[in-house]
Amino acid sequence: MNNLAFRFLFLASLFALVGMAWGIQMSISTDHSLSGAHAHNNLIGFVTMSIYGFFYAVAPSAAKGTLAQAHFWVALLGALLIGPGIAMAITGQGEIVAIIASFATIIGMALFSAIVFINRAALAR
Ligand code: HEM
Repeated sequence: MNNLAFRFLFLASLFALVGMAWGIQMSISTDHSLSGAHAHNNLIGFVTMSIYGFFYAVAPSAAKGTLAQAHFWVALLGALLIGPGIAMAITGQGEIVAIIASFATIIGMALFSAIVFINRAALAR
C-alpha cells in the first residue's frame, strides 16, 4: 500500500475510534444534543477519508505529485475541524471553525474530483 493510502486509512480509523467513543459517551449521558457533530466527525473523518485511502490504494500512480499531497492536508484539516466546529456552533460558541472546516472539506472533495478525473486512465484497467 502506498504511503498516502496508508495515511488516509490509518487516520480514518482514528477518527472512527474517537467518533465511536463520542457516540458511547452520548449514549451513556443520554445527551444527544451533539449528535450532528458526532455524525459529521464519523462521516467526514471515517467514511470520506477511508474512501480517499482506498482510491489511492487502487490507483497508486494518483498518489504521486503535489495535488495529491494538497488533497491530503486539506481533507485532514476539514476532518479535524468539522466535529469540534459543529459542536461549537450547536453550543453557541461561534461558527468560524465550522465554516473553515466546511470550506476545507469541499475543497478537499473538489481536489479529489480533479485527481480522479486526471487519473481516469489508471482506473480503466
Ligand atoms: C460505537 C459506535 C457509535 C455509537 C455508540 C453511536 C451513537 C450515536 C448516538 C447516541 C446518536 C444520537 C441518536 C439520536 O439522538 O437519535 C448517534 C447519531 C448518529 N450517528 Fe452515531 N454512533 C456510533 C457510530 C457511528 C458511525 C460509525 C457513524 C457514521 C459512519 C455514525 C453516524 C451517526 C449519524 C448520521 C447520526 C445521526 C445524527 C443526527 O441525526 O443529527 N455513528 N450516534
